[in-house]
Amino acid sequence: MRKNRLRLVGALAALLVAAGIGAGPPAQARHEPPTLADLAQRHGRYFGSATDNPELVDEPYKALLGSEFDQITPGNGMKWYATEPQQGVFDFAKGDEIVDLARARHQKVRGHTLVWHSQLPGWVTGREWTAPELRAVLKKHIQTEVRHYRGKIYAWDVVNEAFNEDGTYRETVFYKTLGPGYIADALRWAHQADPKARLYLNDYNVEAIGPKSDAYYRLAKELRAQGVPLHGFGLQTHLALQYGYPTTLEDNLRRFSRLGLDTALTEVDVRMQLPVTEEKLAQQADWYRDMTEACLAVRRCVGITVWDYTDKYSWIPAVFPGEGAALPWDEQLRPKPAYFALREALK
Ligand code: XIL
Repeated sequence: MRKNRLRLVGALAALLVAAGIGAGPPAQARHEPPTLADLAQRHGRYFGSATDNPELVDEPYKALLGSEFDQITPGNGMKWYATEPQQGVFDFAKGDEIVDLARARHQKVRGHTLVWHSQLPGWVTGREWTAPELRAVLKKHIQTEVRHYRGKIYAWDVVNEAFNEDGTYRETVFYKTLGPGYIADALRWAHQADPKARLYLNDYNVEAIGPKSDAYYRLAKELRAQGVPLHGFGLQTHLALQYGYPTTLEDNLRRFSRLGLDTALTEVDVRMQLPVTEEKLAQQADWYRDMTEACLAVRRCVGITVWDYTDKYSWIPAVFPGEGAALPWDEQLRPKPAYFALREALK
């Protein structure tokens, strides 16, 4: 009797599994290849993508964004113009939409960005400030935003693009009004507002060792020595085939690790002059592979984020006329050679 009932239960379970109704994953999911996030996790890294609010109505796009990645960065939604469009009037709707989506998929969020000279609202750029005025404005902006997202943000790009190519400070409104100390202040204010978030400085053209990355190296060393809460250095990694690959990337990552900092490739894309050719796609794939291997070779390189994952939503064509095709998926959401190169590097 008991034996028969067990047999019946067994047969029923087999039926349910065959119909794809079991407790485990549906039958065909078991044969799906691991995602970039799965592969990265085996190395203790994340693999992320930027996204932007207008794209979230595109369901096939959204499906891949939710399945292939374990980290998300809002491409615009957390910038100053979006979050404090008028002085003291905060709007977190765009950032919230992306944070909610990411949390539902158990994806980490990188907050981008608190202090930057670009995409500032008119009320910040359209007048003169005394140092005490701007200090108060900056502190309030940082702390209101970081507090709003407290506990939900894995890492913040606290200051973005603070240096010029030659390693001198960029003459932003913050630098000109407050002096270089605005960077340490920004980090301290952010840390007060969310003590668990990892705090980063972030910039482009810092992948190779050179005057600009040297400036960050010196600053990071100084800030760490002073006990300022700096935890990471973000290398945007907006590369272009026509300018050559930054061959010192791995050594560069390693020297920041030795300072006790995390590093991350935060906004990766590899653009090319159009038209696309097989050769360019192959070279692009090599670069994606090489940068991934560089990150994996350095213990404290914690993850890689592509600056959106499909050419359909890349920022490149709008900003670099005649260039594009920078991402691992094409405009039809089909994987390109770069995608397979990423998989290989992460295997
Ligand atoms: C870009 C966005 O992707 C675009 O949609 C926007 O129009 C301009 O900014 N470095 C950064 C990012 O730190 O914030 C920029 O994002 C790309 C360059």
